Amino acid sequence: MIPDTFIERLRDESDIETIISSYVALKRRGRTAVGLCPFHSEKTPSFTVYPDSQSFYCFGCQKGGSVITFIQEIERLDFVEAIKLLAGRAGIPLPEEAADDGSSRRRARVLEINRTTAKFFHEKLISPEGQAAYNYLTGRGLTRKTIRSFGLGYAPDNWDSLKKHLQDAGFAEDEMLSAGVLTKGRSGRAYDQFRGRVIFPILDLRGSVVAFGGRAMEDGKGPKYINSSDTPVFKKSHGLYALNFAKAAKEDMLLLAEGYMDVISLHQAGFTCAVATLGTALTQEQARLISRYTGRVALAYDSDGAGQNAARKALGLFSGLDISVSVLDLGGAKDPDEYIKKFGPIRFRNLIEGGKSAFEFEVERLQKKHDLDTPDGKTAFLNEFCALMADISGEIAREVYISQIARQLDVSKDRLAATTAAIRKKKIGAHARKQAHNLRTFVQDNPETLGGRPSARRGTDLSGLAAQRGLVALLLQNPDYFGEIRSKLTENDFTDPDLGAIYRAVHTLLEQNRTPDLALCGSQLTPQQMGIASGLVASGRDIKYYREQADEFIAAIHKQKEQKGPDEVGNMSPRQLQEYINTRRAIK
Ligand code: UTP
Ligand code: MN
Repeated sequence: MIPDTFIERLRDESDIETIISSYVALKRRGRTAVGLCPFHSEKTPSFTVYPDSQSFYCFGCQKGGSVITFIQEIERLDFVEAIKLLAGRAGIPLPEEAADDGSSRRRARVLEINRTTAKFFHEKLISPEGQAAYNYLTGRGLTRKTIRSFGLGYAPDNWDSLKKHLQDAGFAEDEMLSAGVLTKGRSGRAYDQFRGRVIFPILDLRGSVVAFGGRAMEDGKGPKYINSSDTPVFKKSHGLYALNFAKAAKEDMLLLAEGYMDVISLHQAGFTCAVATLGTALTQEQARLISRYTGRVALAYDSDGAGQNAARKALGLFSGLDISVSVLDLGGAKDPDEYIKKFGPIRFRNLIEGGKSAFEFEVERLQKKHDLDTPDGKTAFLNEFCALMADISGEIAREVYISQIARQLDVSKDRLAATTAAIRKKKIGAHARKQAHNLRTFVQDNPETLGGRPSARRGTDLSGLAAQRGLVALLLQNPDYFGEIRSKLTENDFTDPDLGAIYRAVHTLLEQNRTPDLALCGSQLTPQQMGIASGLVASGRDIKYYREQADEFIAAIHKQKEQKGPDEVGNMSPRQLQEYINTRRAIK
């Protein structure tokens, strides 16, 4: 357990707006700051940061919480790990309890196994046993120096040479399994995961070996590459091969390739800003990671259909991020490795300078897709082209592309601009509607009970669920009402487990005379519950709760508990609740 005093200090020294700004471009809007949500794809900002309550909430995807929750979600860490990261960033030494939990010891063990393994494989590669593997690598053009600096290795072609070596070094079998260097067969026996392969160790940003890739030395004998699966120190969808080198490159950009060999060839040719995903298509997390390191990325994907499709998907993932993306045309070679070998580094450098923008790439794709010599093909192309233009937010960029195509295809520029504007207007309207809809779903609107028939509603009491939600929102807004509430209600009166958990967390803090702050609640709540809590805080900003309402909420909660009947006014938002209470008061 991390002491609350430590969390309070950490919260005070980790300003949420500053921290989130290093991940998300935020714009101030009065007392809040908004930006594009890093947790879901959007083109208009719904992600809101509230500096005064040191919380955030996304009205689009309902994620929310404190600065710690944010780090948990964006870095995929648990509560304690997120605290460690923030503490490191703020330069606050950790309390001993946190520094010394079981999971960090396990991780340290796995890292040690990986380091020992990488060393073992590398030594095998330069020993007589690894002669064929060494020749394979030099045969593909790698120098001794490259082989050394990437720490390449050779996994001997038998079942247990690594296992034996690690056993002698004092590691247990289950530790090797959790590091992913052993695997269990159907018989239950554990054996070496990598056998008879060239090994590419994968390093994290600190330079620790976190995983391995292994390539077969002949094609057609099993899968060409195998990669470590996820372990306590490695998440495949998160990592990037060679980022540890590329982050130090002098170029202010990253080159994204598909394969290990592409990256190594590029580095050897002087392009040390090259990275690759690890046996998977680019993920949103990786795109975000790249955008955190640089403002410019060039995609050096294979020139075949699969590679071009992958490039197109990658462009989609980058489109919501603050980064400029270009696509290299490796015409004449199948991948960057082959390109460098065939045409040399100077031509590759020119390729980078002449990279296509995301829109040029997409426009070219559309041009290839349609037959522009027929009127139908031309129309179909122009329709898709205008839809594409409608997504560009820069007015000048839109104008430039539109003029260019208008000239090329000899059509009226004004017509294209008008069509684009119409599509754009529709899209923006649809977005606003979707946003409003999400907001409504969050507050769980219930139109029949709220809408028309007030007479039917008379005599009906507040729904238990709405009252539970209202009570928690009220308490978060007015912790000073707690004295009265606690004598009338316990956590067990909550039928909704999430609201019950939030109430308990707030209750615990207030019992200790602490502010029911979201950062402190985080140790007791799941990120999802933090989302609910911060949603209640966020929606409570427009609603002022009164003392008397506490009694109404409490009465409704007790009543529902007795009745256990269906939720009549179920799922009202705090705002609707307030309106409802006011009407009832007026009726009385
Ligand atoms: P490619 O098939 O394009 O291989 O896969 P490559 O990088 O050109 O490899 P060489 O030049 O033949 O050695 C690209 C990447 O996809 C993953 C690997 O990460 C590889 O680097 N991959 C490929 C796998 O994970 N498994 C496979 O069986 C094949
Ligand atoms: Mn290749």
